[in-house]
Amino acid sequence: MSLNVLRGEILSFTDDPDQSTDQGYVHYDDGILIIEDGLIKAIGPASELLSAIPADAVVLEYQNKLIMPGFIDTHIHYPQVDVLASYGEQLLEWLNNYTFPTEKQFSDPQTARETADFFLDELIKAGTTTALVFGTVHPQSVQAFFEASESRNTRMICGKVMMDRHAPDYLCDTADQSYEDSKALIEQWHGRGRQLYAVTPRFAITSSDEQLQKAGQLLQEYPGIFMQTHLSENTDEVDFVQQLFPGAEDYLDVYDQNGLLSSRSVFAHGIHLCEREHARLRDTQSSISFCPTSNLFLGSGLLDLAALEKAKVSYSMGTDVGGGTSFSMLQTLNEAYKVAQLRQHKLSPLKAFYLATLGGAKALKLDHLIGTLQPDREADFIVLDYAATPLIKRRISKCQTLEDRLFAMMILGDDRSIAETWVAGQCLYQSSLND
Ligand code: GUN
Ligand code: ZN
Repeated sequence: MSLNVLRGEILSFTDDPDQSTDQGYVHYDDGILIIEDGLIKAIGPASELLSAIPADAVVLEYQNKLIMPGFIDTHIHYPQVDVLASYGEQLLEWLNNYTFPTEKQFSDPQTARETADFFLDELIKAGTTTALVFGTVHPQSVQAFFEASESRNTRMICGKVMMDRHAPDYLCDTADQSYEDSKALIEQWHGRGRQLYAVTPRFAITSSDEQLQKAGQLLQEYPGIFMQTHLSENTDEVDFVQQLFPGAEDYLDVYDQNGLLSSRSVFAHGIHLCEREHARLRDTQSSISFCPTSNLFLGSGLLDLAALEKAKVSYSMGTDVGGGTSFSMLQTLNEAYKVAQLRQHKLSPLKAFYLATLGGAKALKLDHLIGTLQPDREADFIVLDYAATPLIKRRISKCQTLEDRLFAMMILGDDRSIAETWVAGQCLYQSSLND
């Protein structure tokens, strides 16, 4: 049996703080978290739990830190590590000029494994413990990713990109091949340890009707698997989709007609949607992944969070590396706040940290396993450092409330703010700032 006891300030969400009948979170200034065999055994105030700790247990004490669930990133591309910070283009040119040529390299399993290792180390360093991840069209890219994730015991969801048109030949599969390759990966990886599979048609432009139909068939054949794609990110993209699918009511309807909307479906971006699309997303319990650093970097637009709230569409946070510009969920929340400001909407710090943890878990229908610190949940959590830089330390020292501190962390923080990252009860990362 392995046992770890941590003592310090603890925060964990129980509900959406904007919707909840109570405050939607638990917070202990002096809390105890007990971890046994990779799971949370107990959480509570030190005054109540100290007596429950075995006499011989070592208690790890944290001062000026905040223990909270690991971040959940609901949209990211692992093969795009080397696409980050590519100059000057919007979506369709950016894909053609930078992204497709880079993804070509992933036919090589060694490139794939080396990049997957680098990518997972970056995510963990940034405090992200679960992500919904795009591979490339090459099944070996997903094989390499799952192997790298399995060796760290991280809970990850990944899928082979399906794309059979409007892309260079070297990156195209066929409807049948993509079905067979996806099926083989699902059989091998979905539910093996902590790994899960997502059917991954890239977006409507790069899939024929026949391929989208095959994607829908896979979802029918394997209940419990996920679906990830892009939706209504850029206005030129939306226009092209309308031309390609004249029989569809709107962009979302292309996916809907092929059975791709469900409670395990995550659509990245969804910036330029109409009311009908919002209603269909809500009615099918599909969700949007909000990727503010990407939406700003690629000049895609400003997601209207108030409209999603009004239409009761579920949403969570994605970095969208490498259209996005940071692995850090804190930096992503920083940009999310500013996007909301430009739309005359306020993203509160409590809502922001909820979206980055339990909100992500709920979007993925994994909240019975991750996203919150409760007994029997998987012990994926991070330790945030309130004093990672002199500036943050100084600003935090002026804060009066938890909300003030969270807001300072999301606006000023980044991967330097992550003191430790724990995955399934093991500490996988410790900042050298703590030495
Ligand atoms: N739409 C289709 N493919 C992509 C991609 O790789 N990144 C982003 N941001 N949008 C896409
Ligand atoms: Zn993307």
